Amino acid sequence: MRALAILAIVAANIAHAADPVAGKFWYEQNCARCHGSPPQERQAGTPNITGFSADRIRGALANIPAMVKVNLTPAQILDVEAYLRAPLQYLWAPGIDFSDLWWNPAESGWGMTFTQRPNASTVGTLYIYDAERKPVWLLMTGAVWVNPLEVRGVLLRAAANGFPPTGFNANSVTTSQIGSFSIVFADHRRGTLTFTADGVAYSKPIERLAF
Ligand code: HEC
Repeated sequence: MRALAILAIVAANIAHAADPVAGKFWYEQNCARCHGSPPQERQAGTPNITGFSADRIRGALANIPAMVKVNLTPAQILDVEAYLRAPLQYLWAPGIDFSDLWWNPAESGWGMTFTQRPNASTVGTLYIYDAERKPVWLLMTGAVWVNPLEVRGVLLRAAANGFPPTGFNANSVTTSQIGSFSIVFADHRRGTLTFTADGVAYSKPIERLAF
């Protein structure tokens, strides 16, 4: 029996995949009133615990007098650790799903894909052209919501040995950061895309591509 119980505890610890979205919830319920939300905006007298490990959290819960009444399960501590790794990513889970194809109807020919998950993480691509009329696509990544209607991130250019003549070679892919972007949404279907690419800044009205 005893061996079984120990096995069950080990299995429970291994089986738990830390969930930063749940961790944000536990944090808001149990920590935010002293440590602030997000933790970067901490209250006086508490440290900024962004990036602190589960070990540090366990130590604090056991030893810091102000925290002795706070109770978290081992699994919840792992969730909070996952949330504390990058709390700004979970700052605003926008109430609107902006996932779509976006364009500027006055400038048909270029556009943007934008995909958003319930935990607020996003990824996008910009498909535009260079000075030689060649199509270019850029990856919009590293995104952070700075408020429920504004997301900012970095622009990467990917390059690879392309399809012709020998097919795609995954080992040849390289990426480099060439700028940054922000999208300020005016409402659920319109916004302004601002980006810098290779040092040049652009600002364009965009809207969902209806078809
Ligand atoms: C009642 C207020 C209060 C609450 C609630 C609280 N803390 Fe704290 N916490 C503190 C204070 C005060 C300190 C700093 C103590 C010091 O520096 O002596 C601290 C320090 C810490 C530290 C730093 C320990 C170290 O190793 O330096 C961690 C990690 C921490 N808290 C995590 C948490 C987490 C996670 C929660 C929620 C589950 C939480 N705290 C809830 C008041 C609180």
